[in-house]
Amino acid sequence: MTSALDKLDQLEAKAPAKLADCETVEQLEQFRIEYLGRNGKLREILSSIGSVPAEKRPEVGKRANILKNRLESSFKEKQADVDSADKADSQDKMIDVTLPGRQSPSGSKHPINLVMERIVEIFSQMGFDTVRGPEVETDYYNFEALNIPPGHPARDMHDTFYLEDGRLLRTHTSPVQIHVMEAEQPPLQIIAPGRVFRRDADVTHSPVFHQVEGLWIDQKVSFADLKGTLELFVRRFFGAETKLRFRPSYFPFTEPSAEIDIAFDHGDGEWLEILGAGMVDPEVFRAVGYDPEEWQGFAFGMGVERMAMLKYGIDNLQLFYENDLRFLRQF
Ligand code: PHE
Repeated sequence: MTSALDKLDQLEAKAPAKLADCETVEQLEQFRIEYLGRNGKLREILSSIGSVPAEKRPEVGKRANILKNRLESSFKEKQADVDSADKADSQDKMIDVTLPGRQSPSGSKHPINLVMERIVEIFSQMGFDTVRGPEVETDYYNFEALNIPPGHPARDMHDTFYLEDGRLLRTHTSPVQIHVMEAEQPPLQIIAPGRVFRRDADVTHSPVFHQVEGLWIDQKVSFADLKGTLELFVRRFFGAETKLRFRPSYFPFTEPSAEIDIAFDHGDGEWLEILGAGMVDPEVFRAVGYDPEEWQGFAFGMGVERMAMLKYGIDNLQLFYENDLRFLRQF
C-alpha cells in the first residue's frame, strides 16, 4: 500500500501541472472535485495522517497544508482566467444588432410579365374578367370551332407544332374564346393572356410568345364599341398622343375584321401593327350554341412582345428570352 508520504510526493509533483492544463469551466470543476474536494486526494492524505509514523507527522501535515494553500490560490487564479476567456468567447458569438444588415439582391418582374399585367389592368378597369385556357389544344378549339375547317388556307399561316397524339400547341389565344363561350352564357366580357406557339424563329419571331385575347359579347355590341374600347386601351397603354388606324383585314372567326396600327406623334409617321380584331363571326356563335340572331360581339388579339418592344423601344425580340440581367434590370 502506498504510504501517505508517497501520495504526498506524487501530488506535489503532479497536481500543479494538472491544474495548469485545465482550460474549461468543466475541467476546473473536475480538478476541484478530484484534488480539493471533500473526498479529494488532499483530504485523503490528511485524514490518513494517523497511519504516518509519529516523527513524520508534523512534516506531512505541514507539507500537505502548504500544497493545499498553493493549489487553492492557483485554482482561484486559474478560475478567473478561464471565466474571462469564457466570457470573451461568448461575446464573439453574440450578435451585434447595431451592425448594418446584409442586403439580399432582389429580383424584378420580367418586362413581358410587366407589359402583360399592365394590359390586363387596363382592360379590367373597363370591366373585363381575366381567364386562362390550356396551352395544349385540340384541332377543334384551335381551328375548327373558330371557323377554320381542315384544308382552310388560314391554317398555313399558323406554323403549328403538333403532338404525336394529334393534339397541338395553341397557335393563338383565340381558342380561349371557345372554352369560355361553351362554359358560360352571354353576356360576357373577358380577356385571356397567355403563351402561344408557332414554328418560326428569327429576330422578329420566337417559337414561344405571348398574346392577350379579348372578347365582349352582349345583345348590342357594335363595331363602334370595338373601336372605342381599343382606342381607350391604346391611349392608356402608349399615351394620349398615340394615333390609331383601323385597316380592313381578314380572320376566319371575325367578320368584318380589322388590323389596328398605331403611330407615335414624335415618330416618322410610320404605322406599326399591334392588334387583330373584328366582330365575332356567326359561325363561331353557332359552334358554341349561341343564337347569332340574339347575340353579337367583338374579339381582338394582340402580341405582347410587340407591345413591349414598342413601349420600351427594343428592336430585338431575342433580348426578352436571353435573360441577361443587364437587360432585365432596366425594368
Ligand atoms: N388570333 C389572331 C392571331 O393570332 C388575332 C385575333 C384575335 C384576330 C381575335 C381577331 C380576333 O393573329
